[in-house]
Amino acid sequence: MAGFAISNSDDGPKQFEGKITFYVVLCGIIAATGGLMFGYDVGISGGVTSMDDFLQKFFPKVYVKKHEVKEDNYCKFDDQGLQLFTSSLYLAALMSSFLASKTCKSYGRKMTMQAASIFFLVGVVLNAAARDLAMLIIGRILLGVGIGFANQAVPLFLSEIAPVRIRGALNILFQLDVTIGILIANVVNYFTSTIRPWGWRLSLGLAGVPAIILFLGSLLITETPTSLIERQKLDEGLAMLKKIRGTEKVELEFNEIVHASKIAQEVKRPFRNVMMRSSRPQLVIAILMQVFQQFTGINAIMFYAPVLFQTIGFKNDGSLLSAVIMGSVNVLCTVVSILLVDRLGRRILLLEACVQMLISQAAIGVILQLFMKATNTLHQDVAIWVVVLVCLFVSSFAWSWGPLGWLIPSETFPLETRTAGFAFAVSSNMLFTFVIAQAFLSMMCHMKAGIFFFFAAWIVLMALFVVFLLPETKNVPIDEMMERVWKKHWYWKRYVDHVENRNRTSDVEVATN
Ligand code: BGC
Repeated sequence: MAGFAISNSDDGPKQFEGKITFYVVLCGIIAATGGLMFGYDVGISGGVTSMDDFLQKFFPKVYVKKHEVKEDNYCKFDDQGLQLFTSSLYLAALMSSFLASKTCKSYGRKMTMQAASIFFLVGVVLNAAARDLAMLIIGRILLGVGIGFANQAVPLFLSEIAPVRIRGALNILFQLDVTIGILIANVVNYFTSTIRPWGWRLSLGLAGVPAIILFLGSLLITETPTSLIERQKLDEGLAMLKKIRGTEKVELEFNEIVHASKIAQEVKRPFRNVMMRSSRPQLVIAILMQVFQQFTGINAIMFYAPVLFQTIGFKNDGSLLSAVIMGSVNVLCTVVSILLVDRLGRRILLLEACVQMLISQAAIGVILQLFMKATNTLHQDVAIWVVVLVCLFVSSFAWSWGPLGWLIPSETFPLETRTAGFAFAVSSNMLFTFVIAQAFLSMMCHMKAGIFFFFAAWIVLMALFVVFLLPETKNVPIDEMMERVWKKHWYWKRYVDHVENRNRTSDVEVATN
């Protein structure tokens, strides 16, 4: 499957030669298992926090409230401590992603992934063996550090090793693993909820499996040529590039990376550079993609699906089963994204999804508004309609904002600000995931069905953002974005126009030595 990636730049069109080798695909599959850890965690907390044994042990007040028949439907799980259990992980991930950006730059993407799996494993042990709330929360924090490291290193790794024409697809393997992780977690919860009284320990303990897979797998994979070259290992970088591209003729691509890395060397403080005017387009887009991704309301559904389905009247088993159905839709539709993203492009997927998500969120809002009162449960037929609408919502998220939230920030920054810029993406994702995790159950308690209209309003905003401010990055080589994307965009070009020549160092913080 030989092929060329065409690349235009100031000195005319360039062609990067390369095959889609077995090795590159293998490395992609292994690295993507970092997404399994993240996904498993997203999926497991909702189920665990609706298990009676778990609630009785750590959150006795919620347990009592849950079983009081008179309790308001929308409020029975509203408890800051319970929400902190879910959300503490994301705060830790937020902070650690900045540290991870440094290890990514200085020690490489591969080592950062290994560190991720180790932090995560220690967290798993503490969680599964938890005797009190403190142990539980400290475990969650370590899991969070692991996720911060993995989510920083994996998408960058995937975008850097990928041949340009399958970059989207390869990168989305990360998100595919996230969705598989969520699904496995839902299935695990379905079974462990019947193992009394320690099923929740099994649920939390099995999170160790993806971490072990990532650790062992990372021993087999390569470092990215970009990271080797960035760290002055030029020969190794060249050899690795030949290996992953399956050809000796990698000179053009190699030179391009060396060129990018020379500029990167001159940047003494990447974090400061990322704040400069010339990085504004990528930075704003990286952050907004995360804000919007989270304000679709996806995690309100992912974390709390079993709780949500219980709220509308399914019993414990029924609610987990509905979560499993929803999880399967999520996985399948991520595959759709892998197939389409490099053909149709990023923008069209995002826009189509906005329409579908808007309709489904608004419809869920209307149904709950009409039929869901404070203390009743929904009639079975109506509840099934809600599940169908949730699946419609999840499917469109899965082929758009889910994967592209990670893909776009990983492919738009130039090398000199890539790890720092991506750290802003990861940390914003974690920050807004935290906000949703912490606030959703309370918001639902106060806003009732209105919460779904709240998310629908955000969807309108994000569609406008895509139409006016998000350029298409399909098929543009990663180190050619400046010339071919930013300098041509009607709005963003004013920020980068003055970066005439990337060799010129006037706009970068130059090392003094
Ligand atoms: C998001 C997660 C979300 C998942 C759902 C990811 O892209 O970052 O927050 O839970 O998609 O599939």
